[in-house]
Amino acid sequence: MDYTKLFRRKSIALIQRDAALGYSDHGDAAPEGGGLRRALGVVDLTALGIAAIIGASIFSMIGTASYNGGPAVVFLFMFTAVACAFSALCYAQFASAIPIAGSAYTYAYASFGELIAWIIGWDLLIEYAIGNIAVAISWSDYFTSLLEGIKLPALGLKDGIIIPSYLTMDFLTASRAFSGMEAAAAEQISSLLAQGNTLETISRVTEIKRTTVDAYAAWANAPRVGGFPIICDLPALVIVVLITALVFIGIRESKRVSNVMVALKLATILLVIILGAFYVRLENWSPFAPNGVSGVLKGVAAVFFAYIGFDALSTTAEECKNPQRDLPRAMMFSLVLCTFLYILIALVLTGMVSYEQLQVGDPLAYVFGAEGANIPWVAGVIAVSAVIALATVLLVFQLGQPRIWMAMSRDGLLPPIFSSIHPRFRTPWFSTLVTGFFVAVPALFMNLTEVTDLAVIGTLFAFVLVCGGVLVLDRKSEQEGQAKGRFRVPYINSRYVVPALIVVVIGSLLYFNPNALSDLFRTVDPADSTIAGWDYVKHKIPLYGYIVLVAVMAYNCVRYRLSLIPVLGLLSCAYLMTELGITNWTRFLIWLGVGLIVYLLYGYRHSKLGKRVDETNGEELKH
Ligand code: ALA
Repeated sequence: MDYTKLFRRKSIALIQRDAALGYSDHGDAAPEGGGLRRALGVVDLTALGIAAIIGASIFSMIGTASYNGGPAVVFLFMFTAVACAFSALCYAQFASAIPIAGSAYTYAYASFGELIAWIIGWDLLIEYAIGNIAVAISWSDYFTSLLEGIKLPALGLKDGIIIPSYLTMDFLTASRAFSGMEAAAAEQISSLLAQGNTLETISRVTEIKRTTVDAYAAWANAPRVGGFPIICDLPALVIVVLITALVFIGIRESKRVSNVMVALKLATILLVIILGAFYVRLENWSPFAPNGVSGVLKGVAAVFFAYIGFDALSTTAEECKNPQRDLPRAMMFSLVLCTFLYILIALVLTGMVSYEQLQVGDPLAYVFGAEGANIPWVAGVIAVSAVIALATVLLVFQLGQPRIWMAMSRDGLLPPIFSSIHPRFRTPWFSTLVTGFFVAVPALFMNLTEVTDLAVIGTLFAFVLVCGGVLVLDRKSEQEGQAKGRFRVPYINSRYVVPALIVVVIGSLLYFNPNALSDLFRTVDPADSTIAGWDYVKHKIPLYGYIVLVAVMAYNCVRYRLSLIPVLGLLSCAYLMTELGITNWTRFLIWLGVGLIVYLLYGYRHSKLGKRVDETNGEELKH
C-alpha cells in the first residue's frame, strides 16, 4: 500500500473543477446529466437552518437535562452556543471557499487529505442518519400522544386514537422497563389492564410513570414469534418513509414545505416564551444549580443535540443561488436566533415549575398542562407543533446525508450510483433512497438515548475536524496561495491568549476544587469504592486524551501564532466530547474502525484523485 496516497489533498481549485463537471453552475438550465437545482436564497437557507436546529432536543430532551442540572442548565446552553459559534465561523469560511455539497467531508479533503476526508464522511453518517433516527423516535413519541389526545366519543374514540404500545417503542426500552420493574408494580398494572383501564388512567392512579406503564404493556401484549416479542416503533418508520419521498421529489418542493413548517415552529416557541414568562415564579430559580456542575454536565448530549443542524446547511451549497455570500450568513443568523430562543426557553421552563418535575418527554407541553400553568389549549398547540417541528428536522437531515454521499461518490470513494442525479427530479435519487432505508429500518428498533449520544459524539468530532481544517488550510493557503472565499474567520493571534486562558481555567478549577489534581490520578471511585482500578480509570481516558490535546494545541499556538477562533472551537468541542462517556467513545471508535475497513476495501482503490495522481505522475496535485 502507498501510504502517501492516504494523505493526498485535493486543492480547492480541483474540488471546484470536479464539481463543475457534468452539471451547470447557472441555475435551471442544466446540461445532460443535470445538476442540482439552484433554488435557495438567504431567507430559505436561514429557514432551513432553523428547521434543522429547533427539534427533538428543545421539545423533548431538554426535560431531563433541566431535571439533572436545574435552572443552571442555561449555562450549558450558553457554553455550547459559544462552542458552536466558533465552529459555525469555521464552517462558514469553508462553505464560502468551497461551496460544494459535501460539507465537512469536502473541507477535510482540502485540508487533511483523503483518509481523514473519508473518516469524516463516514462520521457524518452518524450525525445525519443516526441523528435522524433519534429525531424519528422522538417524533413518534409526540405523534402517538397527540393521537391519544384526539378524543372523539361520537366515533367510539373516547380514549383517543390508540396505537398498541408494542408498535410505538423500541425493544430495549420495553425489556429494560419490564426487567427493572418490581413484581408488585407489574401485578398492579396487569390487573388494571385486565379491568379495561387505559395506560393513561393507570399512570394517573398508580403513580407509576407513564413511560414505564407503556413499556410494560408493550412487553406483555406484543405478539411473539418463537417466544420472542415483536416490539417496534412503526410511526418512526412511517415518517421517515414519507420524508424520504418528499426529499426524493425535489429541493424546491422540500423548501416550500420547510418554510411553512418553520414559521409555525417559531410561532410556537415564541408563544411558550411570551406566555410562559407570566407564569415564572422566582422561587423556582432557587437553588439555581441544585446538583452542581456535574448535574449540569449530564445534559451535554441533550443540549448539544439542540444546536446540531446549522452545519447541515453547507450540504446544500450546490442548491444555493449565491452560496459564497448566503451560506455563511444563514449559518450565523440561524445559530444566533436559536441560541437566543433556547436560553429564554430554558429560563421559562425552569421558572414555571420546579426543575424536579421536568423529567418528562414533553416538557414544553407539560408546563402548560395540569401540573403547570394549566392552559390545556396551549399544551395542545405545542403537541401539534412538536410533530411539525420534528418533521422539519428530519427533512433537512434527510436532504443532507445523500448530498454528502454524492460528493464522496464523485471522488470515487463510493460507487458512482451514489452521485447519480434523477433526470426528472434532479436529486441524488439513489443516495436519498439508501439514506431513507438506513434511517427508517433502525428507527423501528433503536433506543433514543443511545442514538442521541452517538449522534452527538459524531457531530462534535466533525466540528473538531472542521476547526482544525481551517487552521491547516490557513497555513497551506499562506504557503501555497490557495483560493480564498469571501468569508474568513477573523484572525486573532492565539500566541498569548491560549496559554493565558489555560492558566485561568486551571487556576479556577483548583480554586473551586483544591483536589482537582489528585482527582485526576485517583483510581477508586469516591462515590462507590467497589469501582476501582481499570473499571474506574477507563472512564477518565477521554479526559487524559483531552489534556494531551490542550498541551499540543498550546504549543502550536505559541509556535505558529494560530488563529484564535478555530483553536477555541476545536478545544471547546473536544471538551464536550470528553463528557460523553467511555461506552459511547468505544462505539464511536468501532464505527470509525468499520469505516476504515470499508475505505481500504473500496475507496482506496477507486479514489479518482489517487488514479489521477498515478496517471499524471503527481502533476494533478499541483493544480
Ligand atoms: N437540533 C436538532 C434537534 O434538536 C437535531 O432535533
